[in-house]
Amino acid sequence: MCGIVGAIAQRNVVPILLEGLQRLEYRGYDSAGLVVVHDEELDRVRSTGRVADLTKKTASTQGLIGIAHTRWATHGVPSERNAHPHVSKNQIAVVHNGIIENYEILRTRLTSEGYEFASDTDTEVIGHLIHSYYKNGGTLLAATQAALAELVGAYAIGVIANDNRDQLVCARRGSPLLLGVGDGEHFIASDVSALLAQTRKVVYLEEGDVVELGRHGYKIFDVNGRHVERIVQLSELSNDSVELGLYQHYMQKEIHEQPQALADTLESVCNSQSLVPGIFGAQAANTFADIDSILILACGTSHHAGLVARYWLEEIAGIRCNVEIASEYRYRDSVANPKSLVVVISQSGETADTQAALNHAKSLGHTHTLAICNVPESALIRLCKLRMLTRAGPEIGVASTKAFTTQLAALFLLTLVLAKQRGRLSLQDEQRHLHDLRHLPSAVQKVLELEPHIAKLAEKFASKHNALFLGRGLHFPIAAEGALKLKEVSYIHAEAYPAGELKHGPLALVDKDMPVISVAPNDALLEKLKSNLQEVRARGGELYVFADANTHIKEAEGIHIMHMPEHAGYLSPILHTIPLQLLAYYVALQKGTDVDKPRNLAKSVTVE
Ligand code: G6P
Repeated sequence: MCGIVGAIAQRNVVPILLEGLQRLEYRGYDSAGLVVVHDEELDRVRSTGRVADLTKKTASTQGLIGIAHTRWATHGVPSERNAHPHVSKNQIAVVHNGIIENYEILRTRLTSEGYEFASDTDTEVIGHLIHSYYKNGGTLLAATQAALAELVGAYAIGVIANDNRDQLVCARRGSPLLLGVGDGEHFIASDVSALLAQTRKVVYLEEGDVVELGRHGYKIFDVNGRHVERIVQLSELSNDSVELGLYQHYMQKEIHEQPQALADTLESVCNSQSLVPGIFGAQAANTFADIDSILILACGTSHHAGLVARYWLEEIAGIRCNVEIASEYRYRDSVANPKSLVVVISQSGETADTQAALNHAKSLGHTHTLAICNVPESALIRLCKLRMLTRAGPEIGVASTKAFTTQLAALFLLTLVLAKQRGRLSLQDEQRHLHDLRHLPSAVQKVLELEPHIAKLAEKFASKHNALFLGRGLHFPIAAEGALKLKEVSYIHAEAYPAGELKHGPLALVDKDMPVISVAPNDALLEKLKSNLQEVRARGGELYVFADANTHIKEAEGIHIMHMPEHAGYLSPILHTIPLQLLAYYVALQKGTDVDKPRNLAKSVTVE
């Protein structure tokens, strides 16, 4: 999704802007651009290539104030004329994330006032609107505030003017934006990782904030225009955590970071002797006592984590659980149960559909809300009463990996806490689960050792156009996640089916060209799964089975077995995720795709 960086400094800001954009590349984009003020002129450069192309094109660009952007097309095709920054009358420049819903009405009005539109974007109306106020005199801040009052929709914006080298204005509503505080210089960015090379002192802006930044200070005005102070926080992210290091791709790095990410997420729990609701917030015990069901809302990979959790919550905690795709739930007239706990799951905490689904649930009368999220200070964390932070660290690869397994760990903790509160967890079981959780990081580490074998297996997939993933029970969502990973990064069409459903349709697709990947844990459904695998084999399908020890599934003509080091009981979905992530990664390598930035996809989808 789009990314914003801005800077006002006593040095040339172009390298700061370019480095920031580079660090935002992971969000996904199709064009990039920047603008600086130089000799009272706006000097703008844009490119439909990578940030590296923009770097070449800006070799001689200089300025002490500037704004920059990576664009992920929504209104208008990816092209240089649609790339940001957008400029009005060579005087006002704007970068924008989000969507302006009333842009057509504004565009008609501004056209009649003599403004010419050079792009197909909704953003261009913002620049012209600010200009229409600025030209009458007054400050850039006042002109921006007046323009914002007319906008309907979501935005994070950065604004500069050609005749003002000393002020940069920014604002947010519905899209993330933060300030970076430096020494005699200030920055803006949509994501803290963009600023880590400059400063770790950050101010997370609230909904509706508008800010006037100078070199030596800044003023924040809230949604009502009142001057307010916001806390300066020290970001815990280190510069190293967003560096690639020895790995070839972020996806590979992040797959390998899972043992640590899980250990960090589980740290407080594993260091204690018993489970307490407090890990979800001070009010958790009271809330959990008042609920009779769970409603999980999420998108993409996070939705798959919710699907796994449903099995745990119903089976272990004995609590009813519904899992809904956020983009569907938000527009559905559902029957609300105020005694339900609404759980939103999100890596970024900014996904527009998940936010809208949460707000929809609240509007229907839901009051109990919990966010499971990887980004502190994100919108979802702020919008929920209860919260648990997964501590996966920054996830840069667009295809989610470590965020998923840490979400599962958090959801398993939720299950255990609820089971305990509902009298369904004996002391002995609690200790056994705690023991298994402490062991989890090293169990994942052992699975990672399968990497060279999976890399070899991946060679067989490079020429395929389709793949079918099968799983049952707890592992059906893992098959779905495996299929999602494969299609995201290798562009092979992949579908997942609960194995028992095979004979009701997808079996028609099975022939020698259709690889069938099966997740085969040693659980109660194993024998049933084996019969499903026979159905595939009998139709000439080639099977790739990720099997636990003791499953007694044997390697044979057309059956390739990958042996998992151990069976992890209820935590097995976490272990079985790892080889499927590796498979997708190595197939993508074979196919030569842009693994970390798959075409058309964005990391953080902050628009509908
Ligand atoms: C995008 C990403 C996916 C992610 C989904 C939900 O589609 O490409 O990897 O699973 O958004 O994102 P969230 O940040 O809410 O988990």
